[in-house]
Amino acid sequence: MTSAQINRQWLFRRRPRGELTADDLQWVEVPIAEPGQGQILVRNLYVSCDPTQRSWAAADTYYPAMKVGEVMRAFALGEVLTSRLPEFQRGQLVQGLFGWQDYAVADQRGLYPILAVPESVPMETAMSALGNTGMTAYFGLLEVGRARPGESVVVSAAAGATGSIAGQIAKIQGCRVVGIAGGESKCRYLINELGFDAAIDYKGENVMTRLRQTCPNGIDVYFDNVGGRMLEAALANLALHGRIVICGAISGYNEAAPPPGPKNYLKLLTQRGRMEGFVVIDFLPRAAEALEALAAFMREGKLKDQVDVLHGLENAPAALARLFSGENRGKQLVKV
Ligand SMILES: NC(=O)c1ccc[n+]([C@@H]2O[C@H](COP(=O)([O-])OP(=O)(O)OC[C@H]3O[C@@H](n4cnc5c(N)ncnc54)[C@H](OP(=O)(O)O)[C@@H]3O)[C@@H](O)[C@H]2O)c1
Repeated sequence: MTSAQINRQWLFRRRPRGELTADDLQWVEVPIAEPGQGQILVRNLYVSCDPTQRSWAAADTYYPAMKVGEVMRAFALGEVLTSRLPEFQRGQLVQGLFGWQDYAVADQRGLYPILAVPESVPMETAMSALGNTGMTAYFGLLEVGRARPGESVVVSAAAGATGSIAGQIAKIQGCRVVGIAGGESKCRYLINELGFDAAIDYKGENVMTRLRQTCPNGIDVYFDNVGGRMLEAALANLALHGRIVICGAISGYNEAAPPPGPKNYLKLLTQRGRMEGFVVIDFLPRAAEALEALAAFMREGKLKDQVDVLHGLENAPAALARLFSGENRGKQLVKV
C-alpha cells in the first residue's frame, strides 16, 4: 500500500470518562474504500471540532450515540474524487459528516446531507460563519431568541465559534450585547474587535454581580452555550418576557451525571419568560436564507469570522480538547 492509497482514520474506541482524549480513540491506516452506486469518495481537506462530538461519544442525543469501531463522527469539508451521484462532480468541494479521516465514502442516506460548497466561499468560512456555525447563531438568536432592536442580549462562550457570531448578529440587529468569556484577553477581543458593549470574564469576575451591572434592566435574550451556573446567573437577571436560548451546555459535557437543573427556574414564571432549545439541523431547509444574510453582513464588514486552525489529522483530539480548556478562539478546525 503506497501512502497515496492509505486512509488514516481516528476510530472511536470506548466511551470517554471525563474529557474525550486520544486514548478513547484508535489511529489506524487502512486502504481507501471504493464508492458504490449512489456514493461519492471525498478527500477531506478540513475536519471540524465541535463540543457535540463529546455528547455523541457518550449517549443518544439528537443523533444516535457513536458506535465503538466507527470512524470518529465529525463534520468535514473535502474534494470529490469520484462521484457516483449525479448531483456531484469530480473536483467539487462538499461538506458533510465525513469523519476524522483522510478519505470518506458518503451518500445521502446518512445522518446529515452532503452539501455543495459554493465556489465563492473560502473553505474555512464555509465551515464557520457561512456554515453550520453561522446558521446556529443566526437561527438561535433571531428565530428562537427573537432578539429585537434595543434589547439586552447576553451570550456565553462569547469568544467561541457560535457565541462570537451570535453576539455580532445581535449587534447588527441593534441590540446591546454583553459577552461572557474566560479571561481578560478574550473579553478585550469581544469589545475591541467584535464591538460588544461589555464583556464579563467568568474566570476572574462574579458573573451574577456583573450581569446585574451590565444589564440593569434585565436580560431580554440569553444565548446559552454553557449551562450550569451561568444559566442560573442569567435566569436570576432575566427581564420581563425574557427568552433563554438553549444552544448548548458545554460546562456539563464532560460530567458523568448531568448537573442539576437551575434551582431558580421559577424565574421563568415570575418574569413570564421562555426557555427553548433547538438543534441547527432542524433549520437546514432554510439554510439559504441564513447564508445569504450572513454573507451580506460579511460583505458589508459587519461580521467577522474567526477561525482557529491546527494542522495535521493526527492533532484532531488535541484540537477538540482546546474547546474544553478554552484555548480556541473562534471556530476550531483541523487542516488535514
Ligand atoms: N444547538 C445546536 O444546534 C448547536 C450547534 C453548534 C454548537 N452548539 C453548542 O454551542 C456551544 C458552543 O459550541 P462551539 O462549537 O461554538 O464551540 P466554541 O464556543 O468555539 O468552543 C467552546 C467554548 O466554550 C467555553 N467553555 C468550555 N468549557 C467551559 C466551561 N466549563 N464553562 C464555561 N465556558 C466553557 C470555552 O471558552 P472560554 O474560554 O470562554 O471558557 C470554549 O472556547 C456548545 O455548547 C455546543 O454544544 C449547539
